[in-house]
Amino acid sequence: MGIRTAVFPVGGLGTRFLPATKAVPKEMLPVVDKPLIQYAVEEARDAGIENFVFVTAHGKAAVENHFDRNAELERALRERGQDDLLELAIVAGTVPGRMSYVRQMDALGLGHAVWCARNLIADEPFAVLLADELLRGDRPPLADLIDVHTEVGGNVISVIEVPQDATGSYGIVTPGVINGRTIEVKGLVEKPDPADAPSRYAAVGRYILEPGIMSLLGEGHRGAGGEIQLTDAMARLIGGAPFHAVIHDGPRYDCGMKVGFLEANVALALERDDLGADVAATLRRLLP
Ligand code: G1P
Repeated sequence: MGIRTAVFPVGGLGTRFLPATKAVPKEMLPVVDKPLIQYAVEEARDAGIENFVFVTAHGKAAVENHFDRNAELERALRERGQDDLLELAIVAGTVPGRMSYVRQMDALGLGHAVWCARNLIADEPFAVLLADELLRGDRPPLADLIDVHTEVGGNVISVIEVPQDATGSYGIVTPGVINGRTIEVKGLVEKPDPADAPSRYAAVGRYILEPGIMSLLGEGHRGAGGEIQLTDAMARLIGGAPFHAVIHDGPRYDCGMKVGFLEANVALALERDDLGADVAATLRRLLP
């Protein structure tokens, strides 16, 4: 069966971006002129996802409003004949009844956030996208994972190679057979001590998961940092069903960090026909 549902955990406090994130969810911070979360939603939509489940928390109403219609704004733009802006005011692919929101209620970690979506995935394999990992490519990066799932089934995650000393910030794969960009996953460990990291293949926030992970997450085991870790539950799926990682080969911006977020803004602005030349000239002026 195809992958129809994607889960977007957006419950985090975003403390790395204070004070900007005091009243604005970090997922709503713009990269150029589009909120971070919209890039993830568009990636999922372009990969064929139909149902969008957001795991939110207190203070995240702006996310819900963003994927709703704004009749007043649309009317004003229509009256002014600003059709180009009108198009931007509506997120394509956001169909009534297919955007769902569930509150995480307790900040117990990524695994707990995913578990909170358990009643909204229709007991089917589902995708998870972490919005602060902004992945780009000629085709939506999630589509590569869906292809592998279609071919061999089971669980599929996206990885990149990180420097050894960065392995402590990620879920790290123990690789088996490597076939082009596809790696057999033999083990997974969350945020290992770099000296013990089984490889430099790090999970970068794109997952296709079998629904059976929900009951494992529901056991509530605490892992790294005292949190309920998605990685730990994924590790327990290995052996029961195929488990593969796909090496993401396009640009990747870690928008959970200030430098990565600023890099994404510059890189995506430079790509734009309407901004690229001006931004390049501005950067040249600013740089020593
Ligand atoms: C989470 C996951 C980790 C993954 C990372 C990707 O960690 O727990 O396995 O590698 O996202 O960004 P976090 O960055 O939320 O601590």
